[in-house]
Amino acid sequence: MSVSRCWNVPGLPSGSEPVRPDRRRWLRAGTAAGTLALLPGGVADVLALPVGPTGARLAAGTPSSTALGAAVQRAVHQIVDHPRVLDDPLAVKIVGAESAAMQAAVDRRSRGLRAYVAMRSRHAEDRLAEAVARGVRQYVLLGAGLDTFGCRNPHEASGLGLRVFEVDHPATQAWKRGQLAAAGIVPPPSLTFVPVDFETQRLEDRLRDSGFDPRQPAFFSMLGVVVYLTEDAMNATLRFVASCATGSGITFSFTLPPSRLGGAALASRERSMAAMAALGEPWLTFLEPETVPGRLLALGFGTAAVLTSEQANRRYFGDRADGLRVPASSHMADAGV
Ligand SMILES: C[S@@+](CC[C@H](N)C(=O)[O-])C[C@H]1O[C@@H](n2cnc3c(N)ncnc32)[C@H](O)[C@@H]1O
Repeated sequence: MSVSRCWNVPGLPSGSEPVRPDRRRWLRAGTAAGTLALLPGGVADVLALPVGPTGARLAAGTPSSTALGAAVQRAVHQIVDHPRVLDDPLAVKIVGAESAAMQAAVDRRSRGLRAYVAMRSRHAEDRLAEAVARGVRQYVLLGAGLDTFGCRNPHEASGLGLRVFEVDHPATQAWKRGQLAAAGIVPPPSLTFVPVDFETQRLEDRLRDSGFDPRQPAFFSMLGVVVYLTEDAMNATLRFVASCATGSGITFSFTLPPSRLGGAALASRERSMAAMAALGEPWLTFLEPETVPGRLLALGFGTAAVLTSEQANRRYFGDRADGLRVPASSHMADAGV
């Protein structure tokens, strides 16, 4: 069934197949941008209590709600944005076609977040392709959420033998595996799930126990994760990547501190941060593009660069007519060993 036949929502191409009544149990909730999301009852548990201002959500064993928020944005991108910055044929399937379509129909305020979420995955997959061309055969997604790369791995399909390690908090990863099963997506043998809490567990030990080969180079991505970590956990994670075999590298996303924002951007940020704190996933760590390369070199990387939102907009959104743009506060960093 093609994606365009999966929903029946005003404002979107109507399909011949109506939304099934048993999937109409919608729940309103804040998402990663603090924006309105309409989610099917099947994933409502991910937004259930316990929540609170202390960041206790994951520690309490409740999966990340922001992972769902990001995944919904990728799914909506597949449906409403032309041309797509990220081609992800499993993005709609993993969240449920109706969920994505409903949000697309009702929520016009999250275009900037959608652009950022799509761009950061595209950038990571572009950098990964370059690494694979250089001979890298291990890819580690740190804080993978509902990212579907491991299940569509084109480098495995083309016979290059890229192994994928999905690292995530145990609570989120267990929920993701349930989402995959419910969607009928079977993880391929090249994909290994590695449950790790970056705040309390040693990433290197957990990876090695899962078959990661520290003597071989690896490419890492960490998308939408830094902001949810303490600075200590972020530094420990980056220091480990910097200690990996020569030829390894990482791309990660980060966001500006509120002190660098003003006007509408600051007001929007304050709303988002309040919503995230209320969901139990407060924003903790912010970075400034001017200081990121120096910090990465100090952590042990041999090369470091920032792709600012402005540069990302030129590279990935340059010649589009719909005005889709990454917000000015959202950037990427690339570092190599
Ligand atoms: C906003 S989601 C991003 C998910 C995914 N990278 C994406 O772009 O869709 C944040 C992710 O960070 C993970 N995360 C947050 N804190 C973590 C921790 N202490 N240890 C491991 N994962 C963590 C969450 O479980 C979640 O999957």
